Amino acid sequence: MKTIDEFISEAKIALEKKGVNLKVLEGGTERGVSTLRNRQILDLIAIKMHLVSDCEFEATTETTFLGKKIALPVMPAPLSGLVKAVDENCFRRIVEESWMMGVVPWLGYPIQQDVREFEKEFVWIIKPLSDRKKILNEIEKAERSKALAIGVDIDSSAGVKIGGSILDYGGTKNFTKKELKDLVSTTKLPFIAKGVLSEVDYYKLADFCSAVVLSNHGGRVMDSAASPLEILRKIEKITVTGIDSGFRYGTDVFKALALGADFVLVGRLIVYALAVENGIYKVLEILKEELKRIMQLTCSKSVKEISRELIIF
Ligand SMILES: Cc1cc2nc3c(=O)[nH]c(=O)nc-3n(C[C@H](O)[C@H](O)[C@H](O)COP(=O)(O)O)c2cc1C
Repeated sequence: MKTIDEFISEAKIALEKKGVNLKVLEGGTERGVSTLRNRQILDLIAIKMHLVSDCEFEATTETTFLGKKIALPVMPAPLSGLVKAVDENCFRRIVEESWMMGVVPWLGYPIQQDVREFEKEFVWIIKPLSDRKKILNEIEKAERSKALAIGVDIDSSAGVKIGGSILDYGGTKNFTKKELKDLVSTTKLPFIAKGVLSEVDYYKLADFCSAVVLSNHGGRVMDSAASPLEILRKIEKITVTGIDSGFRYGTDVFKALALGADFVLVGRLIVYALAVENGIYKVLEILKEELKRIMQLTCSKSVKEISRELIIF
């Protein structure tokens, strides 16, 4: 099996052939310190080995997400924009290949497809559009589709900024807590807040959202942002809690789970994967194999058994 780095190197060649600007894909806001920090914090954490178990076992990476059984606690992060340039059929592929592996696909905003066309379940993350009525219209569409959950990436309220270039989405702004609570009450679908990067916001949102994703948007919205792992280590988890930003390897996923995350989202890894035939399935397969191997070396029979005491941070 290829390593993740070998997989990425191959994908980069294919992406360049397609004319994708790797600086825009890999870069972060302004000086790019957030992107660097995401990697640095992950590499700062070390994993111990527990090799002597009380009984024979085979580790399983299976877990659940919003009541669904998933094959591993890793799912494609919501993506939009650039992904269209990698593969015209990107959203359909994200849905199909995720389910081929047995995980729930997440989709970004805007997507150039009617969400009602997807034949399998997905999570749809909508932008914090200033035009709140438009958000309500999108939620209505989602309710008539196979959406498993919807949500908002609250951290893109000032747009995405790569280097000095701001990508705005036709008007976005911050939410008040009341606005978010009202939004949650308009839908029967589970609601997810993505892009939380402080303990304060976590506790404000966790008591009425079905899940919260700690994230700094892969370093794409603010320079010198905290790594979401630095927030995760400080919170008392009170709802389903996911994390993303900088996660690439099985070891990275293990570290997040050890700190209490229920699942990890991968963004750029999926963009690379779109340049490779069946790439999303393949990259998730590598992550699953890597995670399972570390679980064996730490005597973690199941995802739930991956505990804080297995890491040094
Ligand atoms: C090309 C690209 C497009 C993205 N589009 C969205 C989006 O539409 N909605 C969203 O919530 N996040 C979006 N993100 C952020 C990801 O969901 C995720 O938070 C981030 O990529 C995680 O960091 P990683 O790329 O290091 O894994 C995008 C990221 C990239 C690289």
